[in-house]
Amino acid sequence: MTKVTHPAGKREQIETASRDELHALQLQRMQWSLRHAYENVPHYRAKFDQAGVRPEDLRTLSDLGKFPFTTKADLRETYPYGLFAVPMRDVIRVHASSGTTGRPTVVGYTRNDIDTWGKVMARSMRAAGVTADDIVLNSYGYGLFTGGLGAHYGAETLGAAVIPMSGGQTEKQVQLIREFSPTVVMCTPSYSLTIADELTRQGVGKGETSLRVGIFGAEPWTNEMRREIEERLGIDAVDVYGLSEVMGPGVACEYVECKDGPHVWEDHFYPEVIDPDTGEVLPDGADGELVFTSLTKEALPIIRYRTRDLTRLLPGTGGVMRRMVKITGRSDDMLIIRGVNVFPTQIEEVLLKNPNLCAQYQIQVSREEHLDKIDVYVEVKPELSDKLTTSGREAIGRDAAHHIKSLVGVSAQVHVVETDKIERTLVGKAKRVIDRRPK
Ligand code: DLL
Repeated sequence: MTKVTHPAGKREQIETASRDELHALQLQRMQWSLRHAYENVPHYRAKFDQAGVRPEDLRTLSDLGKFPFTTKADLRETYPYGLFAVPMRDVIRVHASSGTTGRPTVVGYTRNDIDTWGKVMARSMRAAGVTADDIVLNSYGYGLFTGGLGAHYGAETLGAAVIPMSGGQTEKQVQLIREFSPTVVMCTPSYSLTIADELTRQGVGKGETSLRVGIFGAEPWTNEMRREIEERLGIDAVDVYGLSEVMGPGVACEYVECKDGPHVWEDHFYPEVIDPDTGEVLPDGADGELVFTSLTKEALPIIRYRTRDLTRLLPGTGGVMRRMVKITGRSDDMLIIRGVNVFPTQIEEVLLKNPNLCAQYQIQVSREEHLDKIDVYVEVKPELSDKLTTSGREAIGRDAAHHIKSLVGVSAQVHVVETDKIERTLVGKAKRVIDRRPK
């Protein structure tokens, strides 16, 4: 990994408080949040009543396990505003997730919520080493997606100068990098490589820009991909995590000195990890599904929200708050190939161990004669694109396929292709998998 150019800024008091102090604050806030949801949202009241629990049953943090989970289905059932706990006159912002199937998920914020969000996002950026002196190129999409405005308000709260570029128009992104001298870039990790490709195309060498930090999230990415981004852009690449139902970006973020998984801002978002099949709460260190309860949110209190993101919780290294291991995938992304469970990130990890390949890849799944078939398309590194012969590319593909078989446990055909052959996602999240199997 590259040298940390600027360490994280001074911590807030709560980031270095004792566990006891943090727990006391969490308990008091959790009691408020449960009461707020119960008293102001009929849907929550009905669910709590049905489960036979009342907010006053929460006497310790571990009592949270008695309360029912919330899922995307609850948000859909109450579409669009049924889970809001305040009248619309107190709501000042609405966002929505596109939702690949069915209705979008709608979320709302009061003025205090927007203020809290700005603060946790500013904390995330400070943890990533950003200061008021920085110029931030914000290339997350602005609009209903929480990425653009979330990062924007965070940067402003911190006092940095924001360039509100949004996603897409890659040539213009590069022009701004060359002429406006941003020191920080914020976008999806996959898009950062598209920007890197365009820099190369315009003849800007590795590390020859003003950029020194990138804050990337909204989609899973591996440490191998981090290395590639750091190497190509000459920056520190930091992982920021979040989801709209819980707030947006800035629920958790890595400290730049550690780069060992996002620390959850537990004073606002209480994490649990559960067994996705039984719902049982697992101890820290065990792998499972991440669940969040909001502690301070007014417009949309969210109680035990099942994220479908898979990870484990570990003690903090950058401060008192716990961190999560880099998300390896969502339970929804898991492919079952001839009975073997496969996450796209496992394939990414293997591909990027090969020094000839880069993180522009796509996995296509089909069915031939009743058997699942995987074709992985991956680009060679841009500097090798013109140099490799067909047989050279085939040899690299066979080698990668061999490693996928031995490390992931599935047979795949790996097609090594030239730069730009794989479609880029310019706005929004990269589409890594195309599953053509009949449903
Ligand atoms: O993606 C919020 C966000 C914007 C986070 C910008 C970070 C940066 P949603 O569109 O609601 O919100 O999608 C949330 O994206 O449940 C994860 O599956 C995935 N995700 C978000 N951040 C990460 C990350 C935004 N750092 C869903 N690593 C979440 C892996 C991530 N997956």
